Amino acid sequence: MKVDQIWQTAVVLGAQWGDEGKGKVVDVLGESLDCAARFQGGNNAGHTVVINGQTHKLNLLPSALFHPNCNIVLCNGMVIDPSVLIEEIERVGSSNLTHRLFISDRAHVILPFHIAKDKALDALGKKSQLAAGSTHRGIGPVYADKMARLGIRMIDLLDEPILEQKLRFLFDLYTKELKYVFGLDFDLDFATLKAELLSYGSTLAPNIVDTTFLLRSALNSGQQILFEGAQGAMLDVDFGLYPYSTSSNTGLAAIGTGTGLPPWKIDRVIGVIKAYLSRVGDGYLPTELLDPVGNTIREYGQEYGTTTGRPRRIGWLDLVQLRHATALNGFTRLAITKLDILTWFKEIKVCVAYKVGSQIIDHFPAKLSTYHQCEPVYKTFPGWPDLSAALHANDLPDQLLKFVNFIKQELGVPIELLSVGADREQTIIVSP
Ligand code: IMP
Repeated sequence: MKVDQIWQTAVVLGAQWGDEGKGKVVDVLGESLDCAARFQGGNNAGHTVVINGQTHKLNLLPSALFHPNCNIVLCNGMVIDPSVLIEEIERVGSSNLTHRLFISDRAHVILPFHIAKDKALDALGKKSQLAAGSTHRGIGPVYADKMARLGIRMIDLLDEPILEQKLRFLFDLYTKELKYVFGLDFDLDFATLKAELLSYGSTLAPNIVDTTFLLRSALNSGQQILFEGAQGAMLDVDFGLYPYSTSSNTGLAAIGTGTGLPPWKIDRVIGVIKAYLSRVGDGYLPTELLDPVGNTIREYGQEYGTTTGRPRRIGWLDLVQLRHATALNGFTRLAITKLDILTWFKEIKVCVAYKVGSQIIDHFPAKLSTYHQCEPVYKTFPGWPDLSAALHANDLPDQLLKFVNFIKQELGVPIELLSVGADREQTIIVSP
C-alpha cells in the first residue's frame, strides 16, 4: 500500500453525517506526515482507528497521532473539555505525545454548565421535534457563548485574574438560567470549579501555544500537514440540515477561521464517503432503511456511536447530499469506506434525486417542509461478493467497480482510496 503524496497540505472531510471512517483515512494517509491538526468541533466527534487488530477510540486527538513523529495540533476552531482531553491523553498512553501535542491558546473551553444546558435544551427541543439529538457534550452552548463573546479560552486557564473575572460572570449567568429557565439546581461550587480549571491549566500549560504561528512555520518550512475534519457536510451549521446539525462549520471554509491559515493553502481536499449512509441524532433522512436490510447493515457495520453508543440510523447512499457536499467543499479526491459491509447484498441502491410531489429535484433544499416531502429516486446496483482477499485495485469485483465508478462520475471527482475492512492494511489506494 503506497499513498500518492504529492501534496504538502491536505484536509480530510466527512461528506455525509459524520462517522464516514475519516479516522482510518487519516491514519492511512498519515505515514509521512509532520503534522496533523483538528480545526473544529470537540468531543462530540468519535474516531475509531484499528491498528494490528487493536481498536483505538478518539474524541479530541487527531487520528494521525499513532504515527510517532507526527506533531498533533488542536486548533483555535475547536472547543475543548479539558478534563476529557487530559483523560484521553492518559488513555492513549503514547509515551512521547506530550512532547508533540500543541493546543491553541484561543480554543474555547467547555464547562460543566455548557453540558447541563445542552442536555436541558435537547430534552426541551425533543418535545417540539426541533432537537438535533445532541451528544450532550456542551457543543451548542459553548459555540453560542463564543459568538456572544462570553467564552473562556484555553489561555484563560493560565491567567488567574482573567479566569476569575470571566468565570464569575458566566457562573452567575448560568446558575440563574439553569435554575429559573430550566428548573435545574446546579450544585457546583464556584471556588471548586475555578480550582479545577486552574489545575487543568497547569497540567496542559506546556502544550498551550499560539498554534497559528506553529502551523505557519510548519507550512513555510515545507512540512507535510493533514487537517482532520470532524462531523460531516450534512451536519454543517450553515449548509447542513439546520437545526438538526452540529454548531460548527464542518467543511473546507472552517480551515480559515479554525486554524488561521488561508484555506487556499490546502493542496488536496479529500471527501470521505461511507458506501451507505448512517447518522446518529434526529431529523428526516429520505433514504432511511427501517427494515431488516437496515438492521443487517447496522450489525455488519457495527453502526453504534463511538461517542455515545447510540444505534446509528441507516440509509442508502444519497447522491443529492453528496453533490451538495462536493459543491461546498470542492473535493479534489474521494475516499469510499466500508465497502465490505455491503458484501453479499443482492442489490444495493443509490438515491440519485428526490421526488417532491410530481417534481424531481437534484439539490438539497433549505426549506424544511420541502425536504420533509422528499422521496428518494433510486438507481439499483448488483451486490458484490466477499472482499476479504482484495489487496489491490485489480482484485476488486466488477459489481463493486461499477458502483464506485458511478459515484466518481456523478460527483466528477477522482477516487483516492477504497476501504474494504477496518484494519489499516485493508485499504486499496487507487491511481486516479
Ligand atoms: P452536537 O454536535 O453534540 O451538538 O450534536 C448535534 C448533532 O450532530 C446531533 O445530531 C449529533 O448526533 C450529531 N453529531 C455531532 N458530532 C457527531 C459526530 O462526530 N458524528 C456523527 N454525528 C455527530
